[in-house]
This record gives sequence, structure tokens and C-alpha cells, in this order.
Amino acid sequence: MEKIKTGIIGAGYIGALHASILARDERVSLSAVFDVIEERAEKLARSVGAQVCNSAEEAIEKSDALYIATPNTRHPALALAALSADKHVFCEKPMATNLIDARALLDAASNSQSVFQVGHNRRFAPVYARLKRMIAEGLKPHSAHIKMNRGELINPAWVSDPQITGGFLYETPIHMFDMVRFLFGEVKELLAFGSSHEYPEVDDFSVLIRFESGMHATLASAADASWLFPFERVEVFCHHATIITREMESLTISQGLDGRMETHSMHQLSKEEKWGYSQEDRAFIDSVLNRAPAEVTAMDGYKSVELVDMCYRAVARR
Ligand SMILES: NC(=O)c1ccc[n+]([C@@H]2O[C@H](COP(=O)([O-])OP(=O)(O)OC[C@H]3O[C@@H](n4cnc5c(N)ncnc54)[C@H](O)[C@@H]3O)[C@@H](O)[C@H]2O)c1
Repeated sequence: MEKIKTGIIGAGYIGALHASILARDERVSLSAVFDVIEERAEKLARSVGAQVCNSAEEAIEKSDALYIATPNTRHPALALAALSADKHVFCEKPMATNLIDARALLDAASNSQSVFQVGHNRRFAPVYARLKRMIAEGLKPHSAHIKMNRGELINPAWVSDPQITGGFLYETPIHMFDMVRFLFGEVKELLAFGSSHEYPEVDDFSVLIRFESGMHATLASAADASWLFPFERVEVFCHHATIITREMESLTISQGLDGRMETHSMHQLSKEEKWGYSQEDRAFIDSVLNRAPAEVTAMDGYKSVELVDMCYRAVARR
């Protein structure tokens, strides 16, 4: 079987993580690595047996599929270049950091025969996959209480620069904007408050969401909250039942009125499985091989950008 020649653009933390997973997939041959910092590209290429490239264009030319793993505002141009060369694209989140770029990428992906997947890895994390299954199997949530904090905007250094992140919400909390759609469906209405404390941008948000189903939820996210466990948590309230997740470590359900609860722990999984990275990479290669739509589509990526954009607009109006 011909292997999928896969290139990595951006050889930092997440580029290296994807490369290490893909290097263990026998259907993949890592073809090319490009980073604006050459030593990073060299180090990663050496560790996975790929070739270092002098430009993104060269990496695109040498590959059937590209992972775009650069900082946020660099995603659209690189992903568009890969799509216009008829290559498959795995684009890290956020797909874009404004609606114009997101729309351009959505249109390009929709008009292309290539697979386009967005790196909303949490959809594949066993904790959230199980929560989604529980809801599908009949627990009817009527509200939810969601938190996704960061300890700091210090590491990597660019996360403190809104010119590169697009703003704090585009960096980390966008995962949860995708997650609310994944779990609870389309958003009908959104109200947001924000304030600025530690960083020169709005770095603390409280959001109220009403879904088309009638369900409602709160979503809170602070950028300077320390790394107190669990910095990410979803609490779902149903008829005489509550489900709580703790990061991607565990999920607890209490159902009925006798106070009993049941916990499912993912503690023993590797981080790349616990966080859904292995599964999302496998799904991307499956889609490429089977010419099937991606499991996280350009439309999903677009909708998460749209929700973040709605929050910023709501905060700016106050
Ligand atoms: N899905 C997740 O859980 C997850 C986790 C971490 C990061 N991310 C996303 O992945 C992206 C990268 O984050 P990171 O933590 O790996 O950052 P990083 O700083 O560790 O790595 C980014 C790399 O991209 C390189 N780079 C910058 N501009 C480039 C360009 N134009 N062309 C080629 N290379 C370029 C940098 O030199 C750096 O090596 C971000 O968009 C981030 O939001 C997603």
C-alpha cells in the first residue's frame, strides 16, 4: 500500500506531538518538515526520519497531506496554500482568528476534493466521547456549567500576543466553544462579559449560552487562574442526574436520588490518548485513505470561530 506522505509545518510542541504519533502509523510516511526556526525543523525531522524543507511551499510540494501547526494567525494562509495545491490538510485549532479568514478557508475546503480536518482534539478524548454517548443514549441535559481556565499566558511566549493568538479566546477556550456544539447542538443566543487583569487584553470571560434545543449553559474562562486541577471541567445537569468531567482524567455520574455515583477514570491512558490526539490523527488518515469527510469539518472549525467572534463582539458592546 502506498503510504500517505505527510508534512509538518511548525515544528514546535504540537507539531512534534503529531509527528511522533504519525511516525508510529504504518500508513504514513513523514515526508517533510518546515519551521521558520531551522534548528527546530532539523531536530524534529531527525527524530522522525523526515526531510527538512526551506519553505512551506516546498513542504507542501513534497507531501500528500499537511499538518499546520504554527501559531494561530498563521493558519489560514498556510492551510489555503495547501488546499490550493490539492493537498489534504489537518489544521490545528483555531482554524482562523476572524470570520473573513474562516469563511475563506471554509469555502476553499468545501470546494476542494481534499480532506480538511480541524484539530479540536477534545472531541476524541475518551472522557468527552463517553459524555457525548451518555447524552445520545437518553440523558436529557437541561443545563450545564463549564469552565476552561489557563494558569498563565506565558508559555509558549507568543500566547500573550493577541496579534498572534487572535485573542485569548482563540487560543485555549475555543476548545470549549467547539465542545458545547459537539455535546449540546447549535447555539441560538449568547451573552458575554469580560474584564482585563493580568494581561493587556480581555483575559477573563463569563458567558451565558442558550441552545436551539432550549437548553442553557454557563461558560467561564480566566487566563491567569493558576493551574489548579481541574482547570477544565464540564458539569451537566439532567433529570435527577449530574455528570461531571475533570479535565480529561475522569467522568463521574450520579443518577437517581440515593446519592450513589459512578466514576470512569482515564488515568492509566497515555496523554496522547487521554487528550484524543492519537485518535484524531488516526481519524484524519482514515479519512484521507477512504476519501471520507473529516470527523471535525471546516464547518465545525468555522462555527467555533463564529462563537468566539460573538463573545468578543458582546464584550466590546459593553
Ligand atoms: N489541540 C491542542 O490541544 C493544541 C495544543 C497546543 C497547541 N495547539 C495549537 O497548535 C499551534 C502551535 O502551538 P504550539 O504550542 O505547538 O506552539 P510552539 O510555539 O511550540 O510551536 C509553533 C512553531 O511554529 C513555528 N512557526 C511560526 N511561524 C511559522 C510559519 N509561518 N511557518 C512555519 N513555522 C512557523 C515556530 O517557530 C514554532 O516552532 C497553535 O495554533 C496552538 O493553538 C493546539
